[in-house]
Amino acid sequence: MAVERTLSIIKPDATKRNLTGKINAKFEDAGLRIVAQKRIQLTPAQAGVFYEVHKERPFYGELCDFMASGPVVVQVLEGEGAIAKNREVMGATNPADAAPGTVRAEFAESVGENSVHGSDAADTAAQEIAYFFSGLELVG
Ligand code: CMP
Repeated sequence: MAVERTLSIIKPDATKRNLTGKINAKFEDAGLRIVAQKRIQLTPAQAGVFYEVHKERPFYGELCDFMASGPVVVQVLEGEGAIAKNREVMGATNPADAAPGTVRAEFAESVGENSVHGSDAADTAAQEIAYFFSGLELVG
């Protein structure tokens, strides 16, 4: 399987509860390497650009406001099959459907406040990584 990179975000509900280290441990235990990471505060407009694909959805405004409600940790995870592996570690979007042991089963509060985001495919991973990181910030 090819080595891939994927964009991960630890969301405000998780940073607020001091869960960054526990979530990172799950990524690392699964064999994902954190090759870039920074803690930032988004504006609603910056979150809106990131989630533009969802702009027609009824929850778009709420999602943008939530993502700007506190610090987020944006990170690039690297590993064999990293995009699918990260989605496995995160669990289903709605924590009620997430498998036991996944980040969302253990930590997410609701479908909106679901602790983590992960890219869903190779093309979106490349776009999402470029939104937050320059090439110089990626240290493999
Ligand atoms: P994420 O993987 O970051 O991608 C889009 C986000 O939209 C998703 O996680 C959820 O946090 C959010 N989302 C999806 N469905 C709903 C919903 N019904 N209500 C509020 N937020 C939602």
